[in-house]
Amino acid sequence: MVSTELYPHPLDPLSAQELKDVVQHARNVWKLDHRHLFAMVQLHEPSKEIVNNWKDSDPVQRAAKITLWNSSTSTVIEAVITVEGKEISFTEIPGAKSPILSTESEKAIKAAKADKRIIAALKDRGVEDINQVHMETWPIGAQIPKELDDGRRLIWTPMWQRPTEFANLYAHPINGLHAIVDLDSGEVVSVENTEIIPIPQTPGPYRENQTGANIKLKDLAIVQSEGPSFSVEGWKVNWERWNLRVGFCQREGLVIHDVKFKDQDKERKIAHRLSIAELVIPYGDPSQGAYRKNAFDTGEFGLGNYTNSLTLGCDCLGEIVYLDAAVTTPDGSIKEIPNAICVHEEDNGILWKHVDADGHTEVRRGRRFVVSSIVTVNNYEYGYFWYFYQDGSIEFEAKLTGIVLTVADAIGKDHPSATELEPGLWAPYHQHILCARLDLDIDGEQNSVLEVESFAHPQGDKNPYGGAYETKETLLSKEKDSQRVIDPFSGRYWKIVNQQVKNHMDHPVGYKLIPGHTTFPLALPESTIGKKAGFMYKHLWVTKNSDSEKYPAGDYPFQHPGGAGLPEWTKANRNIENEDVVLWYVFGTNHIPRTEDWPVMPVEKTGFHLKPSGFFARSPGIDVAPSKPSCH
Ligand code: NI
Repeated sequence: MVSTELYPHPLDPLSAQELKDVVQHARNVWKLDHRHLFAMVQLHEPSKEIVNNWKDSDPVQRAAKITLWNSSTSTVIEAVITVEGKEISFTEIPGAKSPILSTESEKAIKAAKADKRIIAALKDRGVEDINQVHMETWPIGAQIPKELDDGRRLIWTPMWQRPTEFANLYAHPINGLHAIVDLDSGEVVSVENTEIIPIPQTPGPYRENQTGANIKLKDLAIVQSEGPSFSVEGWKVNWERWNLRVGFCQREGLVIHDVKFKDQDKERKIAHRLSIAELVIPYGDPSQGAYRKNAFDTGEFGLGNYTNSLTLGCDCLGEIVYLDAAVTTPDGSIKEIPNAICVHEEDNGILWKHVDADGHTEVRRGRRFVVSSIVTVNNYEYGYFWYFYQDGSIEFEAKLTGIVLTVADAIGKDHPSATELEPGLWAPYHQHILCARLDLDIDGEQNSVLEVESFAHPQGDKNPYGGAYETKETLLSKEKDSQRVIDPFSGRYWKIVNQQVKNHMDHPVGYKLIPGHTTFPLALPESTIGKKAGFMYKHLWVTKNSDSEKYPAGDYPFQHPGGAGLPEWTKANRNIENEDVVLWYVFGTNHIPRTEDWPVMPVEKTGFHLKPSGFFARSPGIDVAPSKPSCH
């Protein structure tokens, strides 16, 4: 039986009521007014020590970390206050700039749409009705025009036309026209009106009532007649031998906390906190309207704000439990997101099988437990899926779908950094680069990281037949040693071990991080995006855990000159051997759009796998019972 009763826990996300309370208290305590915008309100996560020592009956001090944007002084304030209204801290952050806030975007679009220069330029492009124009507000992810580069917060507005009410607007990009808007004053400070290219007219229908969508299969129902095999207590979930806590925050969206696995009679800790701490999308097209599109969807927008409400039988199939989330809006009101996170189990094919020499067969079906959520950021959808398996492994998969971003250019032109999808409709090349922050605690906090590679000696004594190979392990003992890239040729992977805890073979227990499909940034390191997202030039970083180091491009990437986050912190070159360490794994896709990515891109996947490696004495899958008596 699934319980949805709420038990308070220090890591539970702030509820809608708690958010309401902290906003009210913050206003009273710090005398906030309409000039103070609530950029982010997130759980002030208690320290690891508090979480690890917390007992069910302990009183919980719940507090919020509030990021305020004082629009009159252009100042970021970080404040911490308890849900009862007790002030903990109130600190101005010099030089920081707030992420883009939804109310500011709305104001900017309104101003741009009312601007006479924009209206006239649209007429020159054949658009008479401003209501047909869809504008988005994007950070300027490249050099800001020099005359405007005086420290103010600016956005620019790519535009599309929606010629009929339900048309796919991304089929009709408007070229060579943008407003640049000062986010704080709400004024259009520049209008860029350059080349006029005819608006591509081939529609990109994808709605069922437009396409007919008549390829049908017979119904597939997932029936769990005895109910699901997991239980939910508030934000804690138990499934098979796993238990973990689901979390949610406005910046990162879905978070996983406190992951444990029951090995025989012992509950063993594997991870303290797992999240996707940044998602940046550098665009590789130098044409106007594309070279600036280098958005940090997590750090410049707050991914949690864009979380979908999921629908049973559509987004998730089977016996589902949904968890609801809530976020604050810039004016301090609360937006509830019902069905924000889906938890369910899935059949995962064969877990293992063997037919013995005597003909006896043992086969086990595998199942996996899934915690997922999906966000929509303008044209794109990102699904974050965490999988927990019966072999003791954990996998993360990002599912990328939605509509590729489009620009217009002359039909058939030589346009080398984009794919022409329809006549005059171009999809620029781009990369989706994610960074996972993995605070693993393998049987405790004191862990070390090894790089493992396979290699062959030259033919000779150590390799008499030429086919021999060995592995070598290199301890990454300092932060600078740990900045590594993948190497499929040597089968490179990284192993996080606890040297204090030995397995039955007297080796340190560990988990290995196995790279999956990934990419490497093409943007030059000296480019604006290269400097701002310096973390993306290494696939692996290891740092000594610090509560203040959460985001790999720094806390405030919006218009940051660059160098913040991982490149800055690791200058200290701290010891990471037998320490509480955090692994940062950078991965993603290099998206060269295909005509088949249009009009809505089928899901693309990228991710990584964490597998026990010397953690268990044998396969945890052996203890899984056959699904039917006839399966052995
Ligand atoms: Ni893409």
